[in-house]
Amino acid sequence: TYEKLWLVAAMLLIVTFIATITYGSVGLGIAMVGDQQPTVEPTELSDDERFGDPRVEQVGENEYEAYVVAQTFRYQPDPIEVPEDSQVTFYVTARDVIHSFSIVGTNVNTMAIPGEIAEMTVEFDEVGEYGVVCNEYCGPGHHDMEGELHVV
Ligand code: CUA
Repeated sequence: TYEKLWLVAAMLLIVTFIATITYGSVGLGIAMVGDQQPTVEPTELSDDERFGDPRVEQVGENEYEAYVVAQTFRYQPDPIEVPEDSQVTFYVTARDVIHSFSIVGTNVNTMAIPGEIAEMTVEFDEVGEYGVVCNEYCGPGHHDMEGELHVV
């Protein structure tokens, strides 16, 4: 029937949307460098030396690693602070349910999944403040799940 056709068309549209968001152009002086998905068990998160104490770590002259944990309904650390002209590799996971880690105004938008680590490298060329929001429905506080990223 036509109903089924419309359903398929609607789903194709959604898939196209997601593809556009995922592979969209880079804005506001930041650039994505890579994307990989290693794993960690959520039950081990507190004992994990990286995610037990979510933080930003300097690993090279202009290179940083940010360990970010999403949890109902907040991010750790918050704010995330990185210097300008830095290359930051984010490792993002979730403690409880699926969230996302999305830096507003950029194409940084990854799911934060318990048991998985999303990895992406981003260059921050300019001082600025960004909002971090959750794009995956995660419960009644979803719409208030926000954090900040400061490029200083
Ligand atoms: Cu966390 Cu929506």
